[in-house]
Amino acid sequence: MSVITHAPIIDTGTRLFGVFGDPVGHSKSPLMLNRAFSEKGINAVYAAFHIKPGTLKDAIAGIRALGYGGVNVTIPHKLEVMDYLDEIDEAARRIGAVNTVVNRDGRLIGYNTDGIGYVRSLIEETGCHPKGKCILMVGAGGAARAIAFALAAEGAAEIVIANRTPEKAQELAQAASGYGAVTGIGLTEVPVVMERADIVINTTRIGMHPMVDETPIRAEWIRPGMLVSDIVYNPRITLLLKEAEARGARIHSGLGMFIYQGAYAFEYWTGDTAPVAAMREAVEQALGA
Ligand code: ATR
Repeated sequence: MSVITHAPIIDTGTRLFGVFGDPVGHSKSPLMLNRAFSEKGINAVYAAFHIKPGTLKDAIAGIRALGYGGVNVTIPHKLEVMDYLDEIDEAARRIGAVNTVVNRDGRLIGYNTDGIGYVRSLIEETGCHPKGKCILMVGAGGAARAIAFALAAEGAAEIVIANRTPEKAQELAQAASGYGAVTGIGLTEVPVVMERADIVINTTRIGMHPMVDETPIRAEWIRPGMLVSDIVYNPRITLLLKEAEARGARIHSGLGMFIYQGAYAFEYWTGDTAPVAAMREAVEQALGA
């Protein structure tokens, strides 16, 4: 049984927020966002809603009818939700997915905070700015899409997307190429790019529990001084990051992306700066990290 700390006083002025997903039972967003509201003294609560396929349209109508302040939207609803909103932020439209809905005086506006959350985490946690860097990304799925656009917008000199299915990498590279030098390759070409990459990012689930003994990049390709980043945060330090550290590379764990995507959502909803340290503490405590 979970213990409620910082229990909010719910009254007629309480603003309501939540996360729509399927499954959603494992989500750490309620703990993280409720802690953020309480830290800032904001009269709001955040709950998890198990929204099954086929019911998303009604759930979004519910936001309007009940006057919710907004919601996060997660797997598998990030694409379909776009059909039910009044407006979609330009970056979210480019990415083709929405993870944050803001109810602005009855108008529902969709944003994507995954990519910008990743970049803010990278900069704030490592001090390394993507501007001018050569970045190798492994994977070309939904997470990669959000990250690639955000990195390109920050002025990366070169982004190379490597994927098991090269066509998908090339497709994403093509879509993002209007914003910088972006190319798509197959996994066999990875060792060559590793020779010049400043930052390497795993955007796949390789290394995630229970695949903890797997890594997307061979350890011997990792050079000392390069930055190795993983969007996986379960475990906190994946095999990729362990091996990178042993090779003298700097490492960046995926937990930050989760925290900062929530931080941006908080900021869009409240107009206030997110209490990132408290949010991190809540999540780390929940993960037993
Ligand atoms: P998400 O939306 O979370 O990013 P996704 O859209 O299913 O997830 O994308 C998963 C990515 O991880 C894809 O790029 C996938 O490669 P394919 O496009 O070839 O399917 C990659 N991926 C997943 N498992 C992999 C594995 N075992 N080896 C290599 N790549 C893998």
